[in-house]
Amino acid sequence: GIKIATIGGGSSYTPELVEGFIKRYSELPVRELWLVDVEAGREKLEIVGQLAKRMIEKSGLPIEVHLTLDRKAALKDADFVTTQFRVGLLDARAKDERIPMKYGVLGQETNGPGGLFKGLRTIPVILDICHDMEELCPNAWLINFTNPAGMVTEAVLRYSNINKVVGLCNVPIGMEMGIAKLLDVEHSRVRIDFAGLNHMVYGLDVYVDGVSVKDEVINLLTDPNNSSFVKNIQGQGWEPSFIKALDVLTCPYHMYYYKTREMLEKDLKNFENGETRAEVVQKLEKDLFELYKDPNLDIKPPQLEKRGGAYYSDAAVRLITSIYNDKRDIQPVNTRNNGAIASLPDDSAVEVSCVITKEGPKPISVGDLPVAVRGLVQQIKSFERVAAEAAVTGDYDKAVLALTINPLVASDKLAKQIVDEMLEAHKEHLPQF
Ligand code: G6P
Ligand code: MN
Repeated sequence: GIKIATIGGGSSYTPELVEGFIKRYSELPVRELWLVDVEAGREKLEIVGQLAKRMIEKSGLPIEVHLTLDRKAALKDADFVTTQFRVGLLDARAKDERIPMKYGVLGQETNGPGGLFKGLRTIPVILDICHDMEELCPNAWLINFTNPAGMVTEAVLRYSNINKVVGLCNVPIGMEMGIAKLLDVEHSRVRIDFAGLNHMVYGLDVYVDGVSVKDEVINLLTDPNNSSFVKNIQGQGWEPSFIKALDVLTCPYHMYYYKTREMLEKDLKNFENGETRAEVVQKLEKDLFELYKDPNLDIKPPQLEKRGGAYYSDAAVRLITSIYNDKRDIQPVNTRNNGAIASLPDDSAVEVSCVITKEGPKPISVGDLPVAVRGLVQQIKSFERVAAEAAVTGDYDKAVLALTINPLVASDKLAKQIVDEMLEAHKEHLPQF
């Protein structure tokens, strides 16, 4: 039977994942699911773990659920390792979101300074997990959902000995499902050719039953109600002249780059009212864990859909199922470029539509990116590469460099000030500096 180890098993998202394993059991017979967390997550692990057990019991499936704080025991002989941990928990995210705003810079968990510092905290931990995997489950696949997923996948590819790694995000599947809904067709009939980076992915074309509907969909993206596909980013419609000339589909995170001013203004307003997204999510989580405690609850509660990570389970379990069964279907994931996107380094992580085989994702070649988007994608990749290097080496100058080349930060002095304050604020989670 299949053994799954989920690191960050105490996450409020765990019921998503469990639901996914139950739904796909006939194709993916999971025998053991090990949910592992650290001491600080002990209570959450216990609560969400008991809910996971009730969900499985209700399904009648022979899946064993193990709850543990012992990562090595969880990893031993695992077939798939999924990661959904958050170093420093949501308090660290609140700092990532607040501190940059004091300097008039966007505060966001995966973009700009927040993205850099989430990477600096997370990369040493993921590399440590990779080390354990080499020893305890050298043949396992690492399915990383931990953000910043692009930078984290980049670090694993370039700084660990684990080759079987896939980075995963719910944005692409969210776009497909959102567009299917807008067009009032079934999800299975919609396909998007994805290419770019995590949270910087474009839809180069979109089809219904194999026929391009790109122009129609681009028109729909000018409406604020249609332009976001995740709960954590509010839609702001695109200027028709801009989006038509861009001629590709954007993802919700592009609003931080092509509507920097509006997004910043909106966030500053929320900030003055005392709430960052982390604080909204902290409240949501509190309510969720209250629900999870109910001994009569044995399903994923619909309230979880208020989180930005909706369809996470679909994306994760669909991917694992296709690797396990050598399905060779097409899914957008983060993987080694290997020349698929000519405009980016071969050894870097890219988010691209892939054929999913038992040897892993095979990226579908797209050639060069359109000239209008190529430069931004390359700049963000440079940011990710320099940031990953800073995370691994603890090189202060590289951290300042990474932030200065990020398009959301307009000066080297400003970058240094933000790095200094954030290094201090996060120091307990940044032993490498
Ligand atoms: C998106 C992203 C995820 C991110 C989530 C945040 O969908 O793809 O990478 O973790 O939103 O949602 P939250 O509810 O935590 O703000
Ligand atoms: Mn994501």
